[in-house]
Amino acid sequence: VSDARPVGVFDSGVGGLTVLSEILRRLPNEPTIYLCDNARTPYGVRSVEEIRRFSGEALDELAARDVKAIVVACNSSSAAALGYLRERYDIPILGVIRPGAAAAALATRNGRVGVIATPATVRSRAYFAAIKDENPALHVYEQPAPELVPLVEAGQLDGPAVTAAVRRSLAPLFRLPDSDDLLPYSRAPEEPIDTLLLGCTHYPLLRSTIVSVVGAGTAVVDSAAATASSLAELLGINGLDAPPATSVAHHQLTTGDADRFAGTARRLFGATFGDGLGADPTSVSRVELGAQLAAAEA
Ligand code: DGL
Repeated sequence: VSDARPVGVFDSGVGGLTVLSEILRRLPNEPTIYLCDNARTPYGVRSVEEIRRFSGEALDELAARDVKAIVVACNSSSAAALGYLRERYDIPILGVIRPGAAAAALATRNGRVGVIATPATVRSRAYFAAIKDENPALHVYEQPAPELVPLVEAGQLDGPAVTAAVRRSLAPLFRLPDSDDLLPYSRAPEEPIDTLLLGCTHYPLLRSTIVSVVGAGTAVVDSAAATASSLAELLGINGLDAPPATSVAHHQLTTGDADRFAGTARRLFGATFGDGLGADPTSVSRVELGAQLAAAEA
C-alpha cells in the first residue's frame, strides 16, 4: 500500500523549516505542504486558548488540502494544543515534544537534562512530563528563553549580541557567572547538566553559538531529526508511504508576505532551502486563516 497525498507540516513561523529540512532528508519521496502563521508569530508568548485557536485554524487549512498526516513542528503548539488538535481531526497528527524528549533521554549520561523553550512551552511542562515518561529517574530543568526567537526571525544567528543573549538565556541552567541561579519553573541544577534540549523550532539555527557558550562537553539535541524518524515510522506502520516518484512537489503557505517568507527562509537555510524545496519562489503562496478572514469582514 502507498499514499501519494502530501504530508502537512505546521509551524507558527519560519523556524519549523528546521523540522521540514529533516523530513525532506529522511523521506525524500514524500510531497509536503508547509503552512506557517507568520502574520501571528510568535505563538510562544500567547495563552493556551489563543495557541489552540490559531493552531486549529491552521490545521483546518491543511485538512482542507487533503494531507495524509500532519506534523505540528511548533513546540509551543505541540505543548499547548496537541491533544485538542488530535480530537478535532481523523488525520494522524505528530508533535515534536515526544521525539525531542526521547532524543534527550537517550543522549544524557549523568541523568541531568536542561530544556530551553518559549514561555508557553515551559509553562505547559510538556517536556518535563515527556522526559519523565521516557525515564522517571532523569532530572529535568526547564528555562524559558524568550529573547532568542526574535533574533532568529530577524536573521541574526551569530555575533556579539547573539552570544550575549544566548549567555543570558543559558545562565541559570549552566550557573554561568551572570546567573541568578533562579529557575522560574524548576529547581536549579545542583550538579551540571550534560544534555541541553533545544525545545523550540528556532534554536537549532543558533546551534553554533549555543555550543560555543555551553562547551563541547554538553550534548546539544533538538526535536527535528527525531521527529522526522517518528514520521517515517508513522507512515510506515499505517501504509501511508508515498509511492516512488520522479518529481516530488513541495508547497509553502504563509499567512504573512510570501516574498518576505521566501527571503527569510533562504537567508536562514541557504542551500538547504533551495535544494530541498526548489528555488522557485512561486512555490510560496499567501493564505488567509479563519480569524484573518473574520477580521477582514468585520
Ligand atoms: N515555533 C515556536 C516554537 O517552537 C517558536 C516561535 C513562536 O514563538 O511562535 O515554540
